[in-house]
Amino acid sequence: MSTPALHPRAEAHGKVILLGEHAVVYGRPALAAGLPQGIVLTAHPLPNPASLNHLSIPAWQLDLPLRPGDDHPVARAAHAVLAHCHGPTHGWRIQGDSHLPARAGLGSSAALTVALARLVLGPHARLEAILEASMVGERIFHGAPSGLDSEIAARGGLLRYVRGAPPEPIPLAHPLSLIVIPSGIARSTATEVAKVRARHDRHPSVLGPTLDALAAAVDAGIQALQAADLPGFGELMDIAHELLSATGVSTPELDRLCALARAHGARGAKLTGAGGGGCLIALPPADPALLLQGLEAAGLEPLAITITAS
Ligand code: MEV
Repeated sequence: MSTPALHPRAEAHGKVILLGEHAVVYGRPALAAGLPQGIVLTAHPLPNPASLNHLSIPAWQLDLPLRPGDDHPVARAAHAVLAHCHGPTHGWRIQGDSHLPARAGLGSSAALTVALARLVLGPHARLEAILEASMVGERIFHGAPSGLDSEIAARGGLLRYVRGAPPEPIPLAHPLSLIVIPSGIARSTATEVAKVRARHDRHPSVLGPTLDALAAAVDAGIQALQAADLPGFGELMDIAHELLSATGVSTPELDRLCALARAHGARGAKLTGAGGGGCLIALPPADPALLLQGLEAAGLEPLAITITAS
């Protein structure tokens, strides 16, 4: 059997949403940044070219044959992305190396689907073709995602994104330091998006202005960052967390972790991504040591990241 070849290596970014998650599903803007920690995939021919493709990502405890209609969403999504790109369905072992926690709101699924599309289409493929293929997998993972995660996984940098429009790269005069705090609580993006949808359907006259306020926080946040007004940006993160809480996607534990970060000096803290669990982000003070120590003493594993514009 002759099968098309895969490229030997491909990679994609993880992501962190600074402001605007959930509102972006409803056509409002969001501000998100690519993480250098993403995924690297390498492709290796299997000894038997008739064997089904196999995906192995030890960091995410994944070791799966890639079958259409498989029970495992990663197998279904990965197979669908390769098939969409007219890639091989047999004969390859795909090995993944990642420092991103999976299913924590840091864009692991979009990073995987973008990197899979690049394995087939190669490093010079049109960005639109990569994004389209990534969305085929993302719909299997998350239902009807806004496309933000795929854009940032493919492009990196700091982007203002409105669904359906080309993202706007946001220049930054200074790198932005953030602390990512994994809550350790598993959650599902599709469930949290459906929760907001149901609340929005029940109370559109209340949830509409809440989403507008989240959108306003995005543009005020961009202005604050560009004016190097970190206290202002931190306050907007706090406000966004409260607004997200009003949409129903925070939890008492996420609220407690935000309060803990602020009590140890964070200038602002909020959930990031879909909520329900996953990760928080905190804006550290000039010296982040006490914040990091306080979080570690509480049994958390904070991750310091630096965001630079693309
Ligand atoms: C998930 O990373 C971000 C959400 O806004 C959903 C989406 O944009 O599709 C919650």
